[in-house]
Amino acid sequence: MARRRNPKHSVTKALTNPMTENLRPDRNGIARAAALLQAGGLVALPTETVYGLGADARNGTAVAGIYAAKGRPSFNPLIVHVANADHARDYGLWSDHAEVLATAFWPGPLTLVLPLVPNHNLSSLVTAGLDSVALRVPAHPTAQAVLQAFGGPIAAPSANPSGRISATTADHVLSGLEGRIDAVLDDGPCTVGLESTIIGLNHARPTLLRAGGLPIEAIEAALGGVLAIADSAEIIAPGQMMSHYAPKAQVRLNAKDARAGEVFLGFGQIDGDLNLSPSGDLTEAAAALFDHLHALDAMGKPIAVASVPDHGLGRAINDRLRRAAAPR
Ligand code: TXA
Ligand code: MG
Repeated sequence: MARRRNPKHSVTKALTNPMTENLRPDRNGIARAAALLQAGGLVALPTETVYGLGADARNGTAVAGIYAAKGRPSFNPLIVHVANADHARDYGLWSDHAEVLATAFWPGPLTLVLPLVPNHNLSSLVTAGLDSVALRVPAHPTAQAVLQAFGGPIAAPSANPSGRISATTADHVLSGLEGRIDAVLDDGPCTVGLESTIIGLNHARPTLLRAGGLPIEAIEAALGGVLAIADSAEIIAPGQMMSHYAPKAQVRLNAKDARAGEVFLGFGQIDGDLNLSPSGDLTEAAAALFDHLHALDAMGKPIAVASVPDHGLGRAINDRLRRAAAPR
């Protein structure tokens, strides 16, 4: 879809302009994204998981702008995106487990929560005052190009209003945040389509904090052991709050078919108005999940969802679906 675009804005003007620029993933667009970030602006960026709402992680005002644009509760810490594991070590206290997981899965859909190093220059808003930091090296070439051009750490939660479905296209970003952010860098749909898997390495044992785009089985194989599961007392990730990723409509799970007045999200042979994957492929289902929920939510009716197998990426899909269906 064509969007209004005015590359002639000065950076300062753009920051006070209610219009959100639509940037292309070419040299000019990437340079513009980096300049906006350097000036303390908010830029939505594609990553392989979901679009992130990026700001300079060292600039407290810019980071505050993220919370404001998203309407996000301020106690929720943000993921810091860096170009490679060397840069991650500037912020997170490194360990053998960090080395194993970073070597196996970075760049990629994995976030590591590490103890904060002393004398880091991150805004305390990024970590919401915790003594740990969530770090990720994204694989998406456009995210990597912006990290290189910008030359610093980018704080980026998913680019959606707080508590709503994550954005996997630039249109999703704009439908939630247009006029509230400076720019979106449009590079088409995200390939993974689920947020990163988050592993806490600031616990006695490596701990699963959020299921996501990297299957748990792969992480356990790399570590050679079973992950601990965070107990609710230590849960601070909003991805673990019960009503999160919520569409506006009511959601009913494990449905065999639609009741009167419902729209139906199918899986495999249980078909519906939309189907997460007619062939029953969980990777395809993950990539389609938020897009299909957005599309069904736009129809303004309650949403019934077919059951999805609870292994591999199905665990993360079911985690999102349970939150979408939770009472709020
Ligand atoms: O794939 C993703 O992870 C996307 C892309 C943009 O990178 N980002 C994303 O960010 O999903 P966000 O902010 O929506 O989710 C970050 C999660 C939150 O649940 C937050 O609470 C958790 O990471 N988190 C951040 N710092 C943490 C910390 N120090 N300890 C525990 N959880 C933390
Ligand atoms: Mg989010």
